[in-house]
Amino acid sequence: MKVLVIGGGAREHALCRSLSLDPDVSALYCAPGNAGIAEVAELRPVDALDGDAVTALATELGAGLVVVGPEAPLVAGVADAVRAAGIPVFGPSGEAAQLEGSKAFAKDVMAAAGVPTARSYVCTTPEEVDEALDAFGAPYVVKDDGLAAGKGVVVTDDLAAARAHALACDRVVIEEYLDGPEVSLFAITDGVTVLPLQPAQDFKRALDGDEGPNTGGMGAYSPLPWADPKLVEEVMELVLQPTVDELRHRGTPFSGLLYAGLAITGRGTRVIEFNARFGDPETQVVLARLSTPLAGVLLNAANGTLDAQPALRWSEDAAVTVVVASHNYPETPRTGDVIEGLDEVAAQDAPDAYVLHAGTRREGGSVVSAGGRVLSVTATGSDLAQAREKAYKAVARIRLDGSQHRTDIAAKAAERP
Ligand code: AMP
Ligand code: GLY
Repeated sequence: MKVLVIGGGAREHALCRSLSLDPDVSALYCAPGNAGIAEVAELRPVDALDGDAVTALATELGAGLVVVGPEAPLVAGVADAVRAAGIPVFGPSGEAAQLEGSKAFAKDVMAAAGVPTARSYVCTTPEEVDEALDAFGAPYVVKDDGLAAGKGVVVTDDLAAARAHALACDRVVIEEYLDGPEVSLFAITDGVTVLPLQPAQDFKRALDGDEGPNTGGMGAYSPLPWADPKLVEEVMELVLQPTVDELRHRGTPFSGLLYAGLAITGRGTRVIEFNARFGDPETQVVLARLSTPLAGVLLNAANGTLDAQPALRWSEDAAVTVVVASHNYPETPRTGDVIEGLDEVAAQDAPDAYVLHAGTRREGGSVVSAGGRVLSVTATGSDLAQAREKAYKAVARIRLDGSQHRTDIAAKAAERP
């Protein structure tokens, strides 16, 4: 099968890496890709937001499966265009992707499906904003209704800052603060059958100890030794299946990857957010542990035949990924810096540790930074402590002027027996 992956971040590199190891994949393309993905897939230029362009490319390549990575093309309806041309596509319709594209829509679906989430108000006027902030009190949670590339959410004790963010948005969701560790659980679905993957934890703040501003994610690990062994079963029953059922009953079935961002609170598990695609950087650790060849699973979801999919197989290994970000990320990341040490990781740390590229491109003979998050250094080991050690050993070989990374990814979890 020929597979075309749309996107060009570390998530797409992780997807392409897994697909390149799948014996059923005869040719692998990525559009637009990045410097690292070019080592496992043939790159093609494309405007990822243009459904007709993506469809034309998939047709030209004879793709038997298109996998749409990022949220923006999904919300723009790129999967609809590909599907309309009769090409199997992994990724929800534009309407179903509103689960990520609009926080208010997600809240409405959850209310209808009885899915536990933070109490919330949708506000469009300053009066409504003040009432909602007053009703919940600090810490304030203020979310831009629309897609904001990880920058739409402000959690703060500062009333003035909360108010300022709310007033800067057209439509805003203000909600109850959820206290407790966060878990990301992904499920692959064809709109009827739901197949959960293994849970992971993401580190959203820029600095060690969960200090500093929110980011797209600075690292992740899986499995979660501290989590209740029944967590996946519970989230399937309370969150994933009811949400998929609700969307199907509305006539907008969700097929693709349903990402539940959860808070494990003292009063039970609550949904913080849904995403309509694989999460980044959690995908890097979840796919590192998946033993079942990936293409067949994604194709079954695309074709509506997930009920025929044999149970997924998982390795016993633990996985850790550490994001190397550019100077001044997340505020005003500097790009164009040369990255060195990639060959050393490939020569000395593979296959247990490897570098997935997030924002990179080739410039002459070198690889240079091309985004805020630059690399996602991933490692597997017999437990989290070993995976952590291997990941950080590889990170230490990378030289990128002004770069930053967290030193405490999976540290607490690795201390557990
Ligand atoms: P989101 O974009 O919805 O994932 O929000 C980004 C981050 O903000 C989440 O990962 C949480 O750390 C935090 N957050 C969002 N909603 C809440 C909430 N209701 N209570 C506490 N923290 C939240
Ligand atoms: N890891 C957070 C996200 O993908 O949105």
